[in-house]
Amino acid sequence: MSFESELKTIKSAFNSAFTSPGITSDKLELLRIQYLGRKGEIASLFNKLVQISDAEKPLLGKHINELKYECQSLYDNVKKRISADICYEENKYVDYTLPGIPYNIGTSHPLETIMDEIKSIFTSIGFSIAYGPEIDDEYHNFDALNIPKHHPARDMQDTFFIDKSTVLRTHTSNVQIHLMEIMEPPLKYIVPGRVYRNEAISYKSYCLFHQIEGLYINKNVTFSELKGTLEYFIHSLFGRDTKIRFRPSYFPFTEPSAEVDLWDDERNQWMEILGCGMVDPKVLNNVGYNSDQWDGYAFGLGIERMAMLKYKINDIRLFYKNDLRFLEQF
Ligand code: PHE
Repeated sequence: MSFESELKTIKSAFNSAFTSPGITSDKLELLRIQYLGRKGEIASLFNKLVQISDAEKPLLGKHINELKYECQSLYDNVKKRISADICYEENKYVDYTLPGIPYNIGTSHPLETIMDEIKSIFTSIGFSIAYGPEIDDEYHNFDALNIPKHHPARDMQDTFFIDKSTVLRTHTSNVQIHLMEIMEPPLKYIVPGRVYRNEAISYKSYCLFHQIEGLYINKNVTFSELKGTLEYFIHSLFGRDTKIRFRPSYFPFTEPSAEVDLWDDERNQWMEILGCGMVDPKVLNNVGYNSDQWDGYAFGLGIERMAMLKYKINDIRLFYKNDLRFLEQF
C-alpha cells in the first residue's frame, strides 16, 4: 500500500470510529490511545517517514501533520459532547424550583451601623474624622480640660487607672486637647471611639461604651450654631418629629453647657444622649490658642443610648453579649 493510501485508510477508520453511535468516554479514551497515543497509528506514520526519499519527505510530513490535527479536533469535539451529555444525565432529576441551601452571612453590629450613619451625617456638613488614644495621661483626660483635682470625675469610682497618672479615657474629650495641640485653628472634627467608666452597671450604663466627640473652633462661633448643628443631626438620624430638649448643664471644659435629651417612647421619659457647650477659654489657653481671637463649641454623643432609642433596645448590656439571637435582628 502506498503511503498516501495508508493515510486515507487511517483517516476514514478514525472518522467512522469516533462518530460511531453510542460512543462512551471509555471507548473514546481507547480510540485516543489507538490513534493519537505516543505509540498510536499516527505516530507510527511519522516513524515510517525515515524510509521515504528526501524529496518526498516534506510533502508527506505535511500531510501526516494535517491528519493528526484533524484527528485531534475530531476527538476534542466528541469529548466535549460526551461530557455535556454526562452533565445532562446527572442533572436530569434536579428540581430547580427547590429552595437553595441557606448559609449564614455576617451583618454589621448595630453600634457599627449607627456610628457609620452618624459619621456620614457630620462629614456631609463639613466635619473631618479623627481618632485619639484610649489609654491616656491624666493631663489630657482631665487637667487640660479644666477638670480640677477635686472634681468627682477624678474619683477612683469613675475612672479606671492603669497606674498613678495613666487612665482609660473616661470620654473622647481627651482628643479635643490632642487635636488642638498639633493643629492650628480653625478646626472642625468628630472623634469616634470607646470610653471607659467604673460606674454602677444598669440598663443604661455600662463600664465600656462609645462616644463621638465634636469640636469646632473658628472666629465668632455662637451657641446658636451649636444648637442648629445638633438639631440638624438629631433630625437627620431620628426623623423630623423626634422630641428633643436642651437642658442647661455643667461641664468644666465648656461654658455655657447643655445636655440634650430625647423622648423615649418605650419608657415614657427623657433619655440623655449628649453633652455640649461653648469651649471654655481656659481650655483654649491650655493648648496655646488665643482665647480672645478664637471661639468654639464641643459636644459628646453617647452612641449606645442613641442606638437604644433608634432600634428600640431596652438594655445597654445586650450590645456586649454577642448573643446571636440579638445580633441576627440587625
Ligand atoms: N465629655 C462629656 C461627657 O462625657 C461630654 C461633652 C463633650 C460635654 C464635649 C461638653 C462638650 O459626658
